[in-house]
Amino acid sequence: MRAFVPLSIATLAFASLAASAQAPVAPKVPAAPQAQPVAQTPPMGWNSWNYFADKVDDKAIRNAADQLVATGMKDAGYNYVNIDDTWEGQRDASGVLHPNAKFPDMKALADYVHSKGLKIGIYSSPGPTTCGGYAGSLGHEEQDAKMYAEWGIDYLKYDLCSFIGEVMEKEAPNDRAAQMRLMIDAYSRMDKALKATGRPIVFSLCQYGWDAVWEWAPSVDGNLWRTTGDITPDWDRIYVILSQQEGLEKYARPGHWNDPDMLEVGNGKLSLAENRTHFSMWAMLAAPLLAGNDLPNMRLEVKAILTNRDVIAIDQDALGKQAARIYSDGEVDVWTRQLSGEAMAIAVVNAGSDRYSSHPFHLSLRKLGLAGKQKGKNLWTGEAVELTDNMPLALTSHDLLLVRLDSPRLLAPSSAKPRTAAAK
Ligand code: GLA
Repeated sequence: MRAFVPLSIATLAFASLAASAQAPVAPKVPAAPQAQPVAQTPPMGWNSWNYFADKVDDKAIRNAADQLVATGMKDAGYNYVNIDDTWEGQRDASGVLHPNAKFPDMKALADYVHSKGLKIGIYSSPGPTTCGGYAGSLGHEEQDAKMYAEWGIDYLKYDLCSFIGEVMEKEAPNDRAAQMRLMIDAYSRMDKALKATGRPIVFSLCQYGWDAVWEWAPSVDGNLWRTTGDITPDWDRIYVILSQQEGLEKYARPGHWNDPDMLEVGNGKLSLAENRTHFSMWAMLAAPLLAGNDLPNMRLEVKAILTNRDVIAIDQDALGKQAARIYSDGEVDVWTRQLSGEAMAIAVVNAGSDRYSSHPFHLSLRKLGLAGKQKGKNLWTGEAVELTDNMPLALTSHDLLLVRLDSPRLLAPSSAKPRTAAAK
């Protein structure tokens, strides 16, 4: 039911190409440490945008909080309830931004969400307006951050949007390097304003993955940063985003995560296999797990996917290492993720047709650096599995095999090909 995206990210993508052509220079000065570290594992919760878009209101947020508790999602780790765009009203003569009529009392709403043992997030832009055309924080960063803290806000998504046209392009026309400095300064300004409140607030950068954000986001203490344009509930879009994450694994670590955008599990016409693969791969990527579906009307099969504890444990693994794509063969991709306690997760994704049901894929354990038979657990059937080198795997279209090996038997270093070489 996503109704609109007024400022087209597609239009802006043009600027992105130009932007990435000029290699950005990451600032050297590290950000001041957070008073209380947040997001030591990827944030989990729910965000209003993917299902409600501009239809979100106080009631939808309260319902989402209720449902996180009632469905067991809270117990499974989903603890942020995040209000996305379209909550903003007008600024008064003192510059104080008031919520619009959909949100009569933000402090009362935050108290309600907190009373459920959950945390609450909000959304703004460094520009004069948000992507939805509502008031942004430009020139009011400290005032807004202070107000969020007074309300009890625990998470801020800060979305570039109008800052591009209204500030970067106007103040530094045709000077990409200067535009980039303006953008980084804007994120840094809000980082400092949030820290000045003394409240631990997760800082989520949303600027669609431009200008190699993964290189500089930690310098403004971004706890997560979007790596792509917007997700939609379509397999093709999800698979493009998944593929774009290859190579970004070296930037993820506790407190700082790549964000391939919020979950579409349960939205649109995604099949159960597609929902399963989307969720599994976001867990492999150590991505924030922000559900974006209609919680009060969630199907049981969708709830089962979102609350699979074994898969969530992969996402939340304390080591904080993001998966790497080790090799692809035909339309099948094989990713591995290193886990704490020397464990390992393997995902074999059929991005292609049902042909692999009748013409199995042969999994090379050697290419994964594994020596012979491996005992593991299939995280979707819950069953014990034994993997052998070149074993045939029947995979239906857009489904995956997700296995956890608690004690992988590795090839001796001399016989193991370097992972990157194996991927070629
Ligand atoms: C952009 C963001 C989305 C959402 C909308 C809100 O498109 O990428 O995630 O926040 O703005 O307007």
